[in-house]
Amino acid sequence: MKRATKIGKNAALLTAARAARKNAVAKFSKFRVGAALRAKSGKVYTGCNVENASYGLTICAERVAIFKALSEGERGFDAIAVVTDAKKLTPPCGACRQIIWEFCRDVKVILGNLKGSTEVHRMSALFPKPFDISNL
Ligand code: THU
Repeated sequence: MKRATKIGKNAALLTAARAARKNAVAKFSKFRVGAALRAKSGKVYTGCNVENASYGLTICAERVAIFKALSEGERGFDAIAVVTDAKKLTPPCGACRQIIWEFCRDVKVILGNLKGSTEVHRMSALFPKPFDISNL
């Protein structure tokens, strides 16, 4: 029963990420990414990648979702889902791993694609020796 609930929650977050992906602003890479972040409050915040002509100011879907949530006053998160159209599932980039770790800690990272493949990882497995506030 508990497992069924968990699968349902992951699926709901993947669905939200998939919908957010439709808003991707990715005219340069054409690589559309959607993310959905579940706060401990139960609220879900979504994001998509946003590219611009300078290329370097591009922001990933994960960071958009996290900054949206933080700027709304949300603190404490359970899981983040990332959806792309890639056969090889897309994990968060290095910059996003730093931000996910600092603001979301050891959350579940749920990866998915449009064909329905999924993987679940722990942030501590994706980012094993972090630099964070404990180093300062
Ligand atoms: N991107 C994300 O939004 N999230 C990821 O996890 C990987 C990469 C974006 C950045 C850029 O707009 C495009 O994907 C190609 O790198």
